[in-house]
Amino acid sequence: MREYNNLILQCIPSGVMVINMNGLVTFCNTSADSILGIDYLKEKDKSYASVLKGRSQVVQLIKNGINGETYFRKQLQLKMEDINKWIGITTSILYDDKATPMGVIAVFSDITDVKDLEADVKLKERLAAVGELSAGVAHEIRNPLSAIAGYAELLKKGLQEDEIASAVDGIIKEAKNLNRIVTNFLSFVRKPQPVFKGTDVNGLIKEVISMASLDRNAERINFDIKALKTLPAVEADPFELRMAFLNIIQNAVQAMPNGGRLTVKSGVQYGKIFIEITDSGSGIPKEIGDRIFNPFFTTKDHGTGLGLAIVHKIIEAHDGKTEFKSRHGKGTTFIIRLPIKR
Ligand SMILES: Nc1ncnc2c1ncn2[C@@H]1O[C@H](COP(=O)(O)OP(=O)(O)O)[C@@H](O)[C@H]1O
Ligand SMILES: [Mg+2]
Repeated sequence: MREYNNLILQCIPSGVMVINMNGLVTFCNTSADSILGIDYLKEKDKSYASVLKGRSQVVQLIKNGINGETYFRKQLQLKMEDINKWIGITTSILYDDKATPMGVIAVFSDITDVKDLEADVKLKERLAAVGELSAGVAHEIRNPLSAIAGYAELLKKGLQEDEIASAVDGIIKEAKNLNRIVTNFLSFVRKPQPVFKGTDVNGLIKEVISMASLDRNAERINFDIKALKTLPAVEADPFELRMAFLNIIQNAVQAMPNGGRLTVKSGVQYGKIFIEITDSGSGIPKEIGDRIFNPFFTTKDHGTGLGLAIVHKIIEAHDGKTEFKSRHGKGTTFIIRLPIKR
């Protein structure tokens, strides 16, 4: 039976290594050898530090395992002269029948191909985003520019005094418009430099709601806050978070031109805090669902299309997630999930 088990372990493509509590490697299959670029059988000193010499990250994980800390599918990059690859590693404690720890089992797999593929996809996505961004900027800038050119043509023709004044006013207005576009664009492309500190998210929600309720368009909207009283403080940049909440709440207000209800709820789930912003507005049509976070995507006459792109960037910088669900004609819920500690 022991022989048979051994055969199985030798034949599987995952690397398996067993280390006892004294730090000696008691088992290592051939896959572990080839994934880690080691030669277990030739190694005289069977301590894991020696068998795994040069692979310090792996050594550290095993050491932590002996101290009772295990990992699930941890990803590491092994960078050495003879090997350069990504490996996935899962460790667990080996117990005897009296539940006394006997050692650590480490299971390895080579995930280099997966990682390469991921990098490829990311690069393609980034290039596509840059293309879309440039097209967006060009489009946005062209409108006011051609208006300015039009006014200038009029001026050249020689006009009455009052006509001149209105053409000049037009030019000033469009120049301001250009300035607004550039400012918005810069606030989107600038790299956020968040300053993290313990942040009272419920307090931020209250501030943003009282700001939004002053909006003239919010007269017929009922605001409702369902905050979890025991919400823990979150490591975050309060200015950035406020900006993210405000952008989502502004969209919610704009989605309810005939009034409605806007509810903001906070709570803890899966060890993270969440903030849920629900409106009873127009909803987001399915066809545009995967584009709303794209910079310059807007369905509004005077929209910038940068609101949600900014939200997405801020929440990413906080290692958080932005999700939404929506039903056409019924309303929309945006959910932000943030880790409590960084
Ligand atoms: N709460 C919402 N209800 C309906 N549609 C929304 C909502 N939030 C966002 N959207 C859609 O997403 C688009 C992009 O939003 P955003 O990036 O803030 O840009 P903007 O508000 O300038 O249009 C909006 O134009 C709108 O079509
Ligand atoms: Mg917006």
